[in-house]
Amino acid sequence: MNIRILNSREDLNATAAAVIAGLLLTKPQAMLGLATGSTPIGIYRHLADMYRKGQVSFARAYAVNLDEYVGLSQNHPQSYRNFMNEHLFRHIDIPIPHTHIPDGNANDLEAECAAHEQAILEHGPVDLQLLGIGHNGHIGFNEPGHSLTGYTHVVDLDERTRTANARFFGHIDAVPKQAVTMGVGTILKAKQIILVAFGADKADIIKRALTGPVTTACPASLLQCHPNVLILLDQEAGGWFH
Ligand code: F6R
Repeated sequence: MNIRILNSREDLNATAAAVIAGLLLTKPQAMLGLATGSTPIGIYRHLADMYRKGQVSFARAYAVNLDEYVGLSQNHPQSYRNFMNEHLFRHIDIPIPHTHIPDGNANDLEAECAAHEQAILEHGPVDLQLLGIGHNGHIGFNEPGHSLTGYTHVVDLDERTRTANARFFGHIDAVPKQAVTMGVGTILKAKQIILVAFGADKADIIKRALTGPVTTACPASLLQCHPNVLILLDQEAGGWFH
């Protein structure tokens, strides 16, 4: 693993955006694996700026997202489809048919999971997967447990995850109880992975994921098995590393 500790969140966002833009310069038709949540917002802002300045184009790129809440319509303000439209897609030139996010409101969620895997098979593999990390070590919505699922599947959200995400919904009762998520197998098939974390509240779980045992009790620890992972941390999340 290549671990980089940046001086500021701005440096971190700019570094991640530069890696993504660099990939698109060498491979314009790359498939990007994208994340939601608070972590990637600044990275997406940088990418949108770079697009506006003519430094990068997404016209031939594909995007596949990690996850989506079950039960929210795609235009619900907190759906991840809406998140991606607001924070990235509507600011860049990616064709919307090139973007794949599971429909958490689909009648047949199993078919929706299979379609997500199929989209990755058709246009992938994922060249670069962007990840955040949950306080419990989840990646995507692969929650800690006795076992993990390889492929895209429906998952019951951990209470810690629902509590953490209540800040976006106003109240925990409004947070969906399930999500569709890429599995850890799907994630680990990406050619390159960038995990980004900032803030002191992520320091303990980052240390566990990077230096602790590889275990389903901390899904992010499985990244230790991947040959091409870049970890980008700010001083607060990575201070323990010196
Ligand atoms: C989001 C996702 C999650 C988040 C994680 C961290 O698509 O898959 O794993 O990356 O919950 O969320 P934030 O960035 O809000 O701390």
